[in-house]
Amino acid sequence: MIEVEAVTKRFKQVVAVDGITFTVQSGEVLGLLGENGAGKTTTMRIMATVLQPSEGDIRIDGFSVRNQPMEVRRRLGLLFGGEVGLYNRLTARENISYFGRLYGLGERQLAERVKQLSRALGMEDFLDRRVGPFSRGMKQKVAIARSLVHDPQVILLDEPTTGLDVSAASVFRRLINSLKAEGKTILFSSHNMGEIEKLCDRLIIMHKGRLIFEGTVSTLRKTYGLEDLDDIFIRAIGEEE
Ligand SMILES: Nc1ncnc2c1ncn2[C@@H]1O[C@H](COP(=O)(O)OP(=O)(O)OP(=O)(O)O)[C@@H](O)[C@H]1O
Ligand SMILES: [Mg+2]
Repeated sequence: MIEVEAVTKRFKQVVAVDGITFTVQSGEVLGLLGENGAGKTTTMRIMATVLQPSEGDIRIDGFSVRNQPMEVRRRLGLLFGGEVGLYNRLTARENISYFGRLYGLGERQLAERVKQLSRALGMEDFLDRRVGPFSRGMKQKVAIARSLVHDPQVILLDEPTTGLDVSAASVFRRLINSLKAEGKTILFSSHNMGEIEKLCDRLIIMHKGRLIFEGTVSTLRKTYGLEDLDDIFIRAIGEEE
């Protein structure tokens, strides 16, 4: 479970996150939506204990990001868009395994986990090749596998499907649904409304650091009386100007 309690984050004059409160239950997938600069990544970096909140606190399965960062980190699986950070000279398997060892997985457990994830993500063909020359989508799959190798309870994915083709995105959705069925808590950000609709139980919309909508996609449609989700999004953030 993720509990965001009145979190504000300031960088000098910029208020990146402005007093937001929401929760994500276990077994739930919550979509985080917002324009460039809305505060999505900043919110997730606070959850990941990379940044301290200026005000408020976040609890991850009951542990405070302010006071219990080690407990928080142990429970989190993280994927941050744009900064994939794989070791190019290592193979896909080695990259994933390296991370698993940092989390204290034993070799047998690790081998089993790599097998499961590579099957789930369709990575078997390139598992033992060096990642340097991989395509963007192939690297993204390795990064997704790496973020899940230690079987985290709470999963934060910042724009996870960027670079994935249609079939890889569908493989990814299947994986998220199985994690959800296992009772994981999943928060992911996206610029793709269609994807949010396919995956999420609920969504929140952030605009200039503030939370301007929280609810289901069908509530969102009813609220705005529009069908097309992109139109609704433009309308929602327009009303806040
Ligand atoms: N380290 C930092 N120092 C100063 N300002 C920052 C820092 N990190 C983020 N910001 C600012 O905080 C605001 C929110 O940025 P953030 O990266 O959270 O947006 P985002 O919703 O993830 O956008 P995008 O969709 O483009 O990824 C922006 O105005 C950004 O310039
Ligand atoms: Mg971002």
